[in-house]
Amino acid sequence: MTHGAGCYVFDSQGKRYLEAMAGLWCTSLGFSNKRLIDAATAEYGNFGFYHTFNHKTPDVTIELAEELVRISPVPNARAFFATSGSEATETMVKLSWVYHAARGKPGKRKIIARDRAFHGSTIVSASMCGLSRMQREFGLPLPGFLHTLCPDAYHGRLEGETEDAFTDRLAAELERLILSVGMKPDMMALAKGISSSYFPISAVILSEAVHEALAEFNKDGELFGHGFTNSGHPVGAAVSLEALRIYHEMDVVAHVRKMGQRLRDGLQSASVGSRIVGQIRGAGLMIGVELVADPATHAPFPPALRVGAMFDEQAMANGLIIRPMGDIIGFSPPLIVGEYEVDEMAALFGKTLAEVESRIATPHTASSAG
Ligand SMILES: Cc1ncc(COP(=O)(O)O)c(C=O)c1O
Repeated sequence: MTHGAGCYVFDSQGKRYLEAMAGLWCTSLGFSNKRLIDAATAEYGNFGFYHTFNHKTPDVTIELAEELVRISPVPNARAFFATSGSEATETMVKLSWVYHAARGKPGKRKIIARDRAFHGSTIVSASMCGLSRMQREFGLPLPGFLHTLCPDAYHGRLEGETEDAFTDRLAAELERLILSVGMKPDMMALAKGISSSYFPISAVILSEAVHEALAEFNKDGELFGHGFTNSGHPVGAAVSLEALRIYHEMDVVAHVRKMGQRLRDGLQSASVGSRIVGQIRGAGLMIGVELVADPATHAPFPPALRVGAMFDEQAMANGLIIRPMGDIIGFSPPLIVGEYEVDEMAALFGKTLAEVESRIATPHTASSAG
């Protein structure tokens, strides 16, 4: 790939693609946002780098922390910066261990995550993943990392179980696990869209209780031994502040609800008559289309057929970038998408779907999928 403009990216042959995944759920403001470029350029001119250790944090980073805390749903929160989602996840685990250690319970270390979830690729965040490919070569998960059911009603419902009963069963299972280890959630990880990924920056929002435990731990000079050199980089902070301003000005949540509904409706219409679309699900502009061998029974395709990979290859040929997750076709376009791009996305999806269906119907073509 060579460059991007709005919701499109271009490859080295000059071919244009509609980027229906915002990279990797990243570029919420598209690939060429001038205000973000200007914010980065201005901050590079002001402060090319400074760190956040020993009370020397750049003022722009403090401003970002204050803004994140102001808009976060956690009362009297604090912000801790890192540079990636994995680091933010890992930081939350370490903070929870420190929290319990400061309260005289150093043995309280269990972590619960969901089957099939993705949380990152460092040792701790990979231990939280509910995906064997993130763990099998590395002797993971670490001890004390527990997993509970994936909230997948399409495949997880028991015979005759309603969607409400399924939800109740999963909530009860999670509650049972939480009670068995005595946990209460009070931290949030932020990454990717915080800067529209124009700069690698992530953050953890932590509750007052966690912050107080940290202060208690630090009071005798026993510093919390954790932090990253580039955490809270001033350029990342300046870009993120500008991104937050833009989200606010464009009323991003209302826009996403509207465009998300339009995309979902478009994908639904494009799937009419399809024999392989099992379910279209999601929230806002984060949507998955699950392809199955038999929508009546929800039976999946044989993995060897690699239908998701085949769809990906065909979509690329059509100038559309999606994300295949097994046979689930992921959409998470830049949040700035307008009606034109959403309609083009649905149309290219429909074209690709029809081509994939005919490839599946011709087995020798299907097996060559990439
Ligand atoms: C939910 C979630 N957590 C953590 C991560 C890891 O983030 P990073 O790749 O920035 O380390 C990702 C990345 O896709 C993610 O989607």
